[in-house]
Amino acid sequence: MGKRQSNAEVLANKKIKGCCFKIVLRSPSAAKEALPGQFLMLKAGAGQISDPLLRRPLSIHKAAGGEIEILYEVVGKGTRALSQRRPGELISFLGPLGNGFDYRNTGLSSRRPILVAGGLGVAPLLFLAGRLAAIRRDPAAGKIEVLIGARTKEQVLCEKEFKNTGCNVKIATDDGSAGFPGRVTALLEKQLSALGHKSLAVYACGPQPMLKELAGICRKNNVPAQVSLEAHMACGIGACLGCAVNTKDGYKRVCQEGPVFRTENLIY
Ligand code: FES
Repeated sequence: MGKRQSNAEVLANKKIKGCCFKIVLRSPSAAKEALPGQFLMLKAGAGQISDPLLRRPLSIHKAAGGEIEILYEVVGKGTRALSQRRPGELISFLGPLGNGFDYRNTGLSSRRPILVAGGLGVAPLLFLAGRLAAIRRDPAAGKIEVLIGARTKEQVLCEKEFKNTGCNVKIATDDGSAGFPGRVTALLEKQLSALGHKSLAVYACGPQPMLKELAGICRKNNVPAQVSLEAHMACGIGACLGCAVNTKDGYKRVCQEGPVFRTENLIY
């Protein structure tokens, strides 16, 4: 696993929508190694000052052709510093880190995937959708279903990109301004009933309350689910234990054994 520190050239760093930015980095080795659900620890600020607060764990959004894309929201000091990085600059990172989504084992690959994203949770799921589309060649198996949740129509992210990957996309907005009016978990319940529960597999990323609710829905419907968890990460490499979550097998580190966990193993 690539825990080494490397430098990548910033190729682009632009605002996508609201506070959401996309940074494109050139790193052929990391792009080749990256798997959906893994993340990088990016040193957000420029220069030699080693401020741990300026290293951020961010999901890999795309990895291809020697480039890695990352979506991030400007929410504080670190991400603000990241948003000021310019093309041509070098950015230090660790990774790819963590264990990604398990979508290739025979028990899961034969199931129709439903990807459920809340807000910026689209970030690792677009990468996953691309890899799933590449291994699912049987049209009779049905399209990949993608459910995107956001507060408002303006905050819906990556709808076009998922459609371009061949996915069947549905939107849920809290204020009802687009798609299904209500939470994306309520839309998931509706879709599970519509599609039948037996041959589905859910992959999700989003805020903790959404993932907790989703775990309950999938348990009730007997559908296997994997979720990518967020956690405060100081080191990102398993050393500080600051990111531990409770599981049926004891405490596990989100940065090391995660960030993706099967919901049946998590204790909420
Ligand atoms: Fe240090 Fe996970 S962030 S152990």
